[in-house]
Amino acid sequence: MKIFLDTANIELIQKWAHTGLIDGVTTNPTLLSKEDGNPTVAILTICEMLPLGVISVEVTEKEPEAVYMQARKIAAFSHNIAVKIPCHPHYYTVIKKLIEEGITINITLVFSLTQGLMMAKLGAHYISPFVGRLDDIGSNGIELIHHLRHMLDWNGFETELLAASIRDTTHFEKVIMAGADIATLPVPVFEQSLNHQLTDKGMEQFAQDWKKLNISRFP
Ligand code: E4P
Repeated sequence: MKIFLDTANIELIQKWAHTGLIDGVTTNPTLLSKEDGNPTVAILTICEMLPLGVISVEVTEKEPEAVYMQARKIAAFSHNIAVKIPCHPHYYTVIKKLIEEGITINITLVFSLTQGLMMAKLGAHYISPFVGRLDDIGSNGIELIHHLRHMLDWNGFETELLAASIRDTTHFEKVIMAGADIATLPVPVFEQSLNHQLTDKGMEQFAQDWKKLNISRFP
């Protein structure tokens, strides 16, 4: 299973990029708006930090033709870009054309099984269902991940299931069990998922007990 970081913060990405745990980064206009500096420079920097990773960058244009042109320009930033396009009927034609041209597409703002099916039929490389935002409106985000997994497998689609809008480690654990190909994690969730209080407690106990032996060299 792949792990992406859900942030546009260069320092945080830098901190984890070389650990071997991070397979990519997802950005969106909101995440980029939280950072200082030029978004293009930030994106280019992130692409260089993770040359083997996949970096998702979202279109900001609205009209389909403008989205098409912008998607091509974003894709030209780097070999490892996935262009994020919202799952909206306005863009189906554009999405199909971009995929046919060989541009890697990540369909964002996916909220239903039928939306996911339509995008897989177009040949999208990634679909991004938003777990947390579905929970926010009283729907079941995790259940959608299970349903999408079944639909993709049943039909033999190669589209990768990218679980997004992950709010905590419980979400993360549930999307692992639901068979998501990728989880994109806010950095605090990623960091929290590396820790457990019993690991800390166990290490402390082992260290204390070892001291009792009063051995100066081992082995
Ligand atoms: C990632 O692709 C999404 O943009 C992101 O996970 C959205 O998460 P949010 O619902 O917490 O904003």
